Amino acid sequence: MNISMDGASARNRIFERFNCQPVPAARVVPDLAEDVRRGFARRPRVLPPKYFYDAWGSELFDRICDTPEYYPTRTEAQLLDQSAHSIIRRAQPDHIIELGSGTSRKTAHLLEACEANGLDPDYWPFDVCEEVLHTAAKALIEAHPWLRVQALIGDYSAGLAHLPQPAGRRLFVFLGGTIGNMTPDQAIAFLNELRGLMRAGDAFLLGADRTKDPRLLEAAYDDATGLTAEFNRNVLNVINQVLGGDFDPQAFDHLAVYNEALQRIEMYLVARRDQDVHLMALDRRYGFAGGERILTEISRKFTTESLTAELRAARLTPISHYQPTDRHFSLVLAHPS
Ligand code: SAH
Ligand code: TRP
Repeated sequence: MNISMDGASARNRIFERFNCQPVPAARVVPDLAEDVRRGFARRPRVLPPKYFYDAWGSELFDRICDTPEYYPTRTEAQLLDQSAHSIIRRAQPDHIIELGSGTSRKTAHLLEACEANGLDPDYWPFDVCEEVLHTAAKALIEAHPWLRVQALIGDYSAGLAHLPQPAGRRLFVFLGGTIGNMTPDQAIAFLNELRGLMRAGDAFLLGADRTKDPRLLEAAYDDATGLTAEFNRNVLNVINQVLGGDFDPQAFDHLAVYNEALQRIEMYLVARRDQDVHLMALDRRYGFAGGERILTEISRKFTTESLTAELRAARLTPISHYQPTDRHFSLVLAHPS
């Protein structure tokens, strides 16, 4: 197009190309109060990972992705850069629907490949963090003048049944190794639900982290500048804000250990000393003994076999597997079986 636009109409066009809507829960899921009540009744105490991602948590995660230790982001970005054309030619998407999209930085490779292949799909980022969705959408719309962004705010652990179902061929995307933040049972249930939305011709692109030298893994979840430690402690700030708590985040140490038997990183907050915490909204006190751990996150690491098995258990058939020569990460493109 050769028509020059003044600032107002350019902004107007941007407004026309952005839409944001909530995805209502498809089933009742516990809120933070209930998750804390249940999780703190267990030993070790445990918290679900979705509460990391308030505005500050998403900002911290974005910075973690740029640390030298956190190899997954740059490895996956490189892999996407190299394989985007192949993925897009196979999937031929009219819609790209991304779960847990965050900053959508890596997705840009897919959008560029669409452009190069004469496709102009709508992009549907789905995330629990509204702030990160807005920032990501704005950047994408400015970078791709043809793109329509249909942002979806919601919790994918509350089910996918209320996701919009646009007509045409869809490419579902789940990057960043986030599948590893679910237990095997949760992951298979989640993939099954996703599979249930898919029609013949739709495709699914999954990014998953691989097993490797535990020293590399542990460093990736404990960067030298302490961003990951701050990210981990931020969940206590979220609890303080939402539940009127008096957690002192600095009274907890960050710990990331690789569990060889379960092939997963386990992230803990470890109480530095005996302490009592009061949560006003629950009208309860919780005692923590010095050294006591809260499990805040797991990040499972896959072999080709364990990854393929999980997809097949959810009736998804891998059609292409992209991996770098060091095999540090996997991108798998799959079809419904
Ligand atoms: N895909 C991005 C971000 C990964 S971090 C990347 O590869 O870099 C995980 C993302 O999933 C965060 O943006 C977080 O806000 C989102 N998320 C975590 N749990 C979620 C849930 N239950 N429902 C929806 N989004 C979730
Ligand atoms: N999906 C990311 C991963 O498992 C999430 C993550 C990366 C993360 N670093 C973290 C979660 C640090 C909590 C703390 O790699």
